[in-house]
Amino acid sequence: MSYISKPYILFGGDFNPEQWDRQTLEKDLLLLKNAGVNTLTLPVFAWAKMEPEEGRYEFDWLDEILDRIEAYEMKYFLATPTCAQPAWMSKKYPEVLPVDIAGRKRTHGMRVFFCYNSPKYRERAAAIATVMAERYKFRKGLSGWHVANEYGTYCYCENCQKRFRQWLVERYGTINSLNEHWHTTFWGRQVYSFDEVMLPTELNDDYRFNPTVQLDYMRFVTDSTIECYENEARILKKARPDLPVFTNISGYIKKLNQFKMVPHMDVAGWDNYPWPTDDPGFPAMKHDIMRAANGGKSYYVMEQSPNQQNWQPYNKIKRPGEVRRIAYQGLAHGSDSSMFFQMHQSIAGQEKFHGAIIGRNGDGNTRIYREISELGEELARLEDRFVGGRTQAEVGILFDWENWWALELTSGPTKDMDYLQEVFRYYKPLYDMNVPVDMVHYQDDLSKYKVLIAPMLYMMKDHIGEKLDQFVKDGGVLLATYMTGYADENDRCVFGAYPGPLRKALGLWVEETDALRPEEENTVCIGDRTLGICGFLCDLVQLETAKAEAVYGQDFYADRPVITSNKYGRGRAWYIASRLEYKVLKQLIKGLLKSRRVEPLFESEGQVEIAVRENKKGKTYFLINHGNETASVDLGAGYYGNLLNHHTMQGEIFIAAGDVLVLMPVHN
Ligand code: GLA
Ligand code: ZN
Repeated sequence: MSYISKPYILFGGDFNPEQWDRQTLEKDLLLLKNAGVNTLTLPVFAWAKMEPEEGRYEFDWLDEILDRIEAYEMKYFLATPTCAQPAWMSKKYPEVLPVDIAGRKRTHGMRVFFCYNSPKYRERAAAIATVMAERYKFRKGLSGWHVANEYGTYCYCENCQKRFRQWLVERYGTINSLNEHWHTTFWGRQVYSFDEVMLPTELNDDYRFNPTVQLDYMRFVTDSTIECYENEARILKKARPDLPVFTNISGYIKKLNQFKMVPHMDVAGWDNYPWPTDDPGFPAMKHDIMRAANGGKSYYVMEQSPNQQNWQPYNKIKRPGEVRRIAYQGLAHGSDSSMFFQMHQSIAGQEKFHGAIIGRNGDGNTRIYREISELGEELARLEDRFVGGRTQAEVGILFDWENWWALELTSGPTKDMDYLQEVFRYYKPLYDMNVPVDMVHYQDDLSKYKVLIAPMLYMMKDHIGEKLDQFVKDGGVLLATYMTGYADENDRCVFGAYPGPLRKALGLWVEETDALRPEEENTVCIGDRTLGICGFLCDLVQLETAKAEAVYGQDFYADRPVITSNKYGRGRAWYIASRLEYKVLKQLIKGLLKSRRVEPLFESEGQVEIAVRENKKGKTYFLINHGNETASVDLGAGYYGNLLNHHTMQGEIFIAAGDVLVLMPVHN
């Protein structure tokens, strides 16, 4: 029986006590306990200490640390230390070191610096995972297993070259099929056997390498990384089938297809590092992407920074209350944890300027320690109120990693292709209107949504075109955009005119696409009225059954449609031919929501974010004021209790600048 028996919000994070002496350890644990920390992750980077020479393990020091953590009644995720192999391994088996895209064999010294396909790496990683599993599986403090740390190295070594060819054999079967799928007749790039296929080692800013090959390579890296993860995860799972096994996903999420990777984990763990310059809605969207990767279920935020980072160009300290808002934002969007990197600031190394709960002074007499402690105290009071809670959304935004990669690998029509930022343009109005959003996989059941937005649905695969067609026929409202319906899953433009399989539903086809320089713009007009500006890309469309809702105001294509709609079956499909400025887009999306009676959670004024989760205990609303001014929210006729101070509220309420409210409906 463990000492924490009730479900609770995980609070704590990365602990690297192998850096400290016994006295510091004791002092740190007391400070962490007093701050409300209940969960630690360790020993992420201790492989060199745990296996100082091949097959000789030294675990006594760790046993002792785990004893001490347990003495403080805290729990922990045991991390396999396999993201940073010991020096002896790189020296003895150079195959474990990666080769970079320029073909340079890298030297030992970094972390996450191994070839994910190296048999020796996998052998040693499995070996230490086995020893750890056996030694620690029944420890009372164990909450689960954390595999390695932030996978994502791309390797171009000879072994990866060989493995890539095998992967292609599995995917395409014959060389003719590969040539066909890669359309190698272009530039005479046919290969006659699989061993002539080379890794795409040209740099990305040089478009000479076929983007289709790069796309397959990125798929291959994801699959190889999954194998690498599974290599350890299956051992840990076997030892304790009841405990979760997972890894932490890097905040830079593009590298690996997490829609493919996360289903191999028991829960998605991810590292949330918003930039000070981010719109607060941007990390909210990333949380929603993680929730989607985790199949809509709650996930874990495994890392956030309690203060400034060290790896940004200008590392701003977190403003008072900022950590709290960041933490609640994660909880609001589906996380059951609020974990931090790191517990105690290092004295040296790459991250000595990175924030920590315990600063270098070591005694907790800091603003950050106090803020974290207050947060810890609040989270403890919330108990399991919303743990496991889910969010029901009526609006979905289609999102896909391979679509992302393909769009950005492609040369033309513009160099400013930034899928994530572009998706965010469509997320932002919904976020601002307090409308919950699901990020939707192509494979999902679309019928549960009233409105679907599909930003730049360039790659058509998994029958997404047909599914969206059906969605509209059945009464759904779809909003599609420029760069839709171009390519199949091998990045071949096989559909004839764009938007390919969505041509009928949208009732138009795209004849040409103009690319605008950042300083250029066009206008969006209805009759004599100019609604606003547009830019980035301007499609010249030919209408079939659709009607123009607005037209361009300038250039030789003035008067041609820029916003269209098409009644189709029982629904309606909208198309926007150019990137609309925020106010025009928001107005348009508002209209679409209204047409399907999608209501915001609450109406609000000011920079307040509102989200909801629901579990067996009912609904919990999170109201986060990201602005510097008081915000107001209209709660309507219902009564709500603020779980943070037990005040009951109703009607129009005010939220102080930077404050957070956590509300539950009160039934009386
Ligand atoms: C990543 C890593 C951590 C640490 C933090 C610093 O997320 O997983 O080990 O380096 O960044 O921000
Ligand atoms: Zn390799």
